[in-house]
Amino acid sequence: MSVSFEIQGNVAVALVDRPPVNAIDAGVRAGLLSAVQRAATNPAIDALVIACRGRTFMSGADLSELSSSIAPPPYAELLGALENLGKPVVAAMHGTPMGGGLEIAMACHYRCATAGTRLGMPEITLGILPGAGGTQRLPRLVGIEAAVDLLLSGAPIDAARARDLGLIDEIIGDDPLAGGIDYARRLIAQGAKPRPTRAQPAPQPVLPASTIDAALARHARGLKGRTTQNLVFESIRAASTLPFEEGLKLEARLSADSLETTESRALRHVFFAERACGRIPGIEPSRTVDEVRRAAVVGAGTMGSGIAMALADAGIPVALIERDRAALDRGLRIIADNYAQSTQRGRIDAATAAARQALIAGSLTLDAARDADVVIEAVFEDFELKRSVLAQLAPIVRPEAIIASNTSSLSLTRLAEVVTNPERVIGLHFFSPANIMRLLEIVRGAHTADATILAGLALAKKLRKVGVVVGDGFGFVGNRMMLDGYFREAELMLLEGIAPERIDSIMEKFGFAMGPNRVNDMAGIDVGTRVRTELMKRESRPPPYHVVSDSLTALGHLGQKTGRGIYRYEAGDRTPLPNAELAQLTRALADQHGIAARAVPDDEIEERCVLSLVNIGAQILEEGLAYRAADIDVVWTSGYGFPRWRGGPMFYADTLGIEQVLRRIERYWPPAPLLRKLAADGRKFADWDRARES
Ligand SMILES: NC(=O)c1ccc[n+]([C@@H]2O[C@H](COP(=O)([O-])OP(=O)(O)OC[C@H]3O[C@@H](n4cnc5c(N)ncnc54)[C@H](O)[C@@H]3O)[C@@H](O)[C@H]2O)c1
Repeated sequence: MSVSFEIQGNVAVALVDRPPVNAIDAGVRAGLLSAVQRAATNPAIDALVIACRGRTFMSGADLSELSSSIAPPPYAELLGALENLGKPVVAAMHGTPMGGGLEIAMACHYRCATAGTRLGMPEITLGILPGAGGTQRLPRLVGIEAAVDLLLSGAPIDAARARDLGLIDEIIGDDPLAGGIDYARRLIAQGAKPRPTRAQPAPQPVLPASTIDAALARHARGLKGRTTQNLVFESIRAASTLPFEEGLKLEARLSADSLETTESRALRHVFFAERACGRIPGIEPSRTVDEVRRAAVVGAGTMGSGIAMALADAGIPVALIERDRAALDRGLRIIADNYAQSTQRGRIDAATAAARQALIAGSLTLDAARDADVVIEAVFEDFELKRSVLAQLAPIVRPEAIIASNTSSLSLTRLAEVVTNPERVIGLHFFSPANIMRLLEIVRGAHTADATILAGLALAKKLRKVGVVVGDGFGFVGNRMMLDGYFREAELMLLEGIAPERIDSIMEKFGFAMGPNRVNDMAGIDVGTRVRTELMKRESRPPPYHVVSDSLTALGHLGQKTGRGIYRYEAGDRTPLPNAELAQLTRALADQHGIAARAVPDDEIEERCVLSLVNIGAQILEEGLAYRAADIDVVWTSGYGFPRWRGGPMFYADTLGIEQVLRRIERYWPPAPLLRKLAADGRKFADWDRARES
């Protein structure tokens, strides 16, 4: 039984206990409904308190119910019963009441929460409209503008803000049960009556266009390309214009519709894929992994200092090791500046910043890695240098410590050969800036042990990153797809005479925050050239492979940092301006490589950029460099800006239909054999993943 019922004097308590997060399922709904019925029929009871054991009040629906039909009793029956109970009902919250959990609380007559509670309606992040009265009750409690903000952002607010808005009535002490009972007793003593939210006046005025415009502007970044917000507006408008019961019906219909949209299916796909990628076929997930208590990072450059911050932000003490004083000072300064900036921008308070910074201790000797559970090298991308650093580290660190490399292009297997027990060597491919970017490619070399992979995944989780295990091939997964697919096509199109602005604007319309040419200029064109130079020692690629970028690098036109690259920049301004020099350069290179200028339609531009990812992704799956198509989707949505609401490149291909994707790909490149196979069998990437899970 996940809900217990007890009576304390004249107050009844329904206590939910469904670890780990009190997700709402049929059992919880039935338990609460029965508690309402018992409270209703017992004349000795004057009020009902709903609270939860464990780390949080009900945090939301059990998401497995989304893909099946909802088992009885339905939310509407429970919420109606709560609201109509003839005695005060108090929701006593703590932790993170979200979505369905908050909808239950909103159907209670009074709400209180501990000071640390964070409350929110995150459904929009999954492309769903709340379906248990949230859009009808929330505006009655907090007004239209605040309701729109909560529903569009999906982000939680703290208890103090919730009280200011009227979402909760009281902030209670740290024990939600005791605080809830105490609040209920005070309400009884005051003679408080049931206060159903549905009886509150309908919010007025009816959602004005100016409110919509302002809200869309405030949430523009998160809502780019999205449609769920339109359902939110329609449903909120109904809260003002329709009788409550009619509003609920409309919301239920729109909510059911939202589940069927490709957008919602894509967002839920990525949500589940991020959870699934931590499970590796053939590796028992229950094996225990030693927690990382101390870490060391070798090299305090761009990546090393970012990785040190990522570790410190997770509370892990780090020894940051450099080869000379000047380089170390430079690295520590980057870190200090970064924390200072975070405090200035109000992201963290000064004490937190100081505590985190204090976890990073600079050192000039590898001996400082002696106690580390994991040591990550982030020195220059130079095979011999990295091998020598790893060889020196191996006898210093504890025999069970994980030795990791942040290489983006070298063979991890070959790097590991200098370490006495190479099974503990792994690639941890962080993305820049390493303390911000969520993706961590975890590279499995030929010798890497299962336990080392599990340790890498556990570290990713501790750093609040999404760890995706990838094979030790050319560019791993993300860079391989970018270099052999997306960016290669974008460059070829420059050679075919297409303006970079046009390519960027089409890809931004597709949903990337920035088109490939702007990204190239922002990252520094030389960065890609350096990675490719190393990669090409591993495997060759026929010309014209990134000849435009490499020529720009040779000319010193490195993008934003030098004021010209693919675009031109005015000093101190990051706005990309048209660059006549580029057109000259691409024309000369096109002549040299025998590429004729062509008129290329918009849809071809989009297809070549996006479907090249699908084709290379399919090759990667066949080569076993990624375990699942869904893992590739996680890499691209969390590390490369592929729009999450399209589900990642492989899911996107599934939504277009593999047959159709194959036909388009055949126009441009030889298709990956896996694509032909899937199309012939009438299967999708999702089917391919499923077959491998079983
Ligand atoms: N920059 C990126 O976007 C990026 C992304 C992913 C991975 N990487 C990889 O991360 C690694 C580091 O790249 P970066 O951009 O931070 O380079 P960087 O040039 O900024 O930093 C490298 C640092 O290593 C130090 N170093 C060199 N030899 C050393 C030694 N023997 N002992 C201790 N320190 C030493 C240097 O002094 C320098 O501070 C490379 O392998 C690179 O391929 C870079």
